[in-house]
Amino acid sequence: MPSNILVSVAWPYANSLIHVGNITGSYLPADIFARYQRLVGNNVLMVSGSDSHGTPVTVRADADGTTPLEVYSQFHTGFLELFQRLGLTYDLFTSTHTENHFKVSQSIFLALEKNGYLYTDKQQQWYSPTQGRFLPDRYIEGTCYVCGYANARGDQCDQCGTLLEATSLINPRSKMDGSTPELKETEHFYLDLGKLQPAIIDFLRQREDYWRSNVLRQSLGQILADELHGRAITRDLDWGIPVPIEGWDEKRLYVWIEAVIGYLSASIEWAQLNGQPQAWHDWWYDSQAKSFYFIGKDNIPFHAVIWPAQLIGAGDWFSKLFEELEGKQLNLPFYVPANEFMNLEGKKISGSRNWAVWGFDFLSRYEPDTLRYYLTANMPESKDTDWDWQDFLNRNNNELVATWGNLVNRVLSFAYKHWDGQVPSPGELRPADLEILSTVETGFQTVGDYINSVNLRAGLNEAMRLAAEVNKYLDQSAPWFEVKTDKAAAATTIFTALKAIDSLKILLSPYLPFSSEQLHKFLGYTAPLFGEQFTETITDNLGEHDVLRYNPAAASGSWEPSRLPSGQKLREPAPLFRKLDDDIVASERSRLGQPDISQE
Ligand code: MF3
Ligand code: ZN
Repeated sequence: MPSNILVSVAWPYANSLIHVGNITGSYLPADIFARYQRLVGNNVLMVSGSDSHGTPVTVRADADGTTPLEVYSQFHTGFLELFQRLGLTYDLFTSTHTENHFKVSQSIFLALEKNGYLYTDKQQQWYSPTQGRFLPDRYIEGTCYVCGYANARGDQCDQCGTLLEATSLINPRSKMDGSTPELKETEHFYLDLGKLQPAIIDFLRQREDYWRSNVLRQSLGQILADELHGRAITRDLDWGIPVPIEGWDEKRLYVWIEAVIGYLSASIEWAQLNGQPQAWHDWWYDSQAKSFYFIGKDNIPFHAVIWPAQLIGAGDWFSKLFEELEGKQLNLPFYVPANEFMNLEGKKISGSRNWAVWGFDFLSRYEPDTLRYYLTANMPESKDTDWDWQDFLNRNNNELVATWGNLVNRVLSFAYKHWDGQVPSPGELRPADLEILSTVETGFQTVGDYINSVNLRAGLNEAMRLAAEVNKYLDQSAPWFEVKTDKAAAATTIFTALKAIDSLKILLSPYLPFSSEQLHKFLGYTAPLFGEQFTETITDNLGEHDVLRYNPAAASGSWEPSRLPSGQKLREPAPLFRKLDDDIVASERSRLGQPDISQE
């Protein structure tokens, strides 16, 4: 029975370019996982979009002298292109600036209200006397009152991960002009996390035995150490989703509260775009469905505590909006495999200092699968990792090219040349042939288990280990000599090697979709392994927004050992990967920290 798998991917802020740290943190692992689940035959819904509101975008607009709408639109367009070029197969990549998302977010807000999980309170808020307005948390920086980190943001400390009360920051300063703000009274809605705490603890305890320790530490661990308090979920801001209560038109929903609702609203939008408006229920109401949230470690509290709290608190009131769902409860996150951070050449990645490898810039010189390979081999799954250009070069040349690319190229060229462009007919398979085929076949279990449990690095290592085994097999059978004395024996060897490669192609395809697709063609198949990505412009009452979508119709790949028939016509092969010159290391390093290309 196929399972329904929701792949929820962090929504990038629509105010800055995407770098390799972002990609390896959440977008790439999500895609690897989603592609694998589709190959297995599960029903995958992978959603995300641009995180368009809130102060990250307004700060940028203020700095650039433009509007938040402009900033969001420009970056959103860039995301669609980058994600398509990286092969990130979102079933829907949309935005939070859509009529649908506004409605769903306001409905969740009202559901929380009806269920008694909201209250209003007056609070002190930082106010800028120089600018004559309230300063949102993001406009404030100061020293973290938990760990002492000097550059904590108003809403969250990037060092210790604590959700901060901005008003308690030590030495606050305005990010706008560096001036010292003062506290002034304002009224807001609060999410009553104290009231929800027992249900949240319950939810976390049910997941304690299989969640990563970094995620548990920042959720259950923190709650047990220090109970939850109410959190303001409205802001004094004019960019964002209006608070759906009379008399509150000056305020907006807090961006974090509505951004996470995007997983739900994007699922609903996806179903509508597909002409099956109820199709999203399979992922949100089926009790067997599983949801996976791919995020970076800085997002843990919002996904492991606050989003579940919103879902629990909205309860069946939200479902009442849809007749057929009366009395039903939205599914809670099943797994939140948050990644740690990737550093760059020993230092923390910093966009503003251009200490970053940008997605677009990388793709102007290298292939997407090269990036996907290196980012997976080096994925920060359990601890911070480091992007190092020398290591990048070594892994490309010694692993991707030497172990996998050359194997494919050797076998394909040899088969193409000596057997008239066809898969040769084997004689009876010998023990060594049977052994290598069964060795490769074990990968469907081992690599599959690793990916299914979101141990993506280990899965890639295992697939590459199997490729190395096939190299050994070839070295031992030496068909290049065999062909001169016993062509029939060489045919058996090459047939076996082609089958092994055909299987490895599937094992590697979630990681390396572009080159696997190419290899698939070289092997003579016509239907592609995966479906097709496409963009589309949607018009609603807020205006237009472009979306990235995925059409699975043409996909023919499945997570099964090769059934390559002898006699299948091959296509003329070409190398899958390029060996890189040693001098790229120095030239790439010299780009780092240079101001010119950072934000074009
Ligand atoms: N834009 C935020 C970030 O990239 C939050 C992403 S996840 C969301 O860190 F669901 F909350 F949007
Ligand atoms: Zn801190």
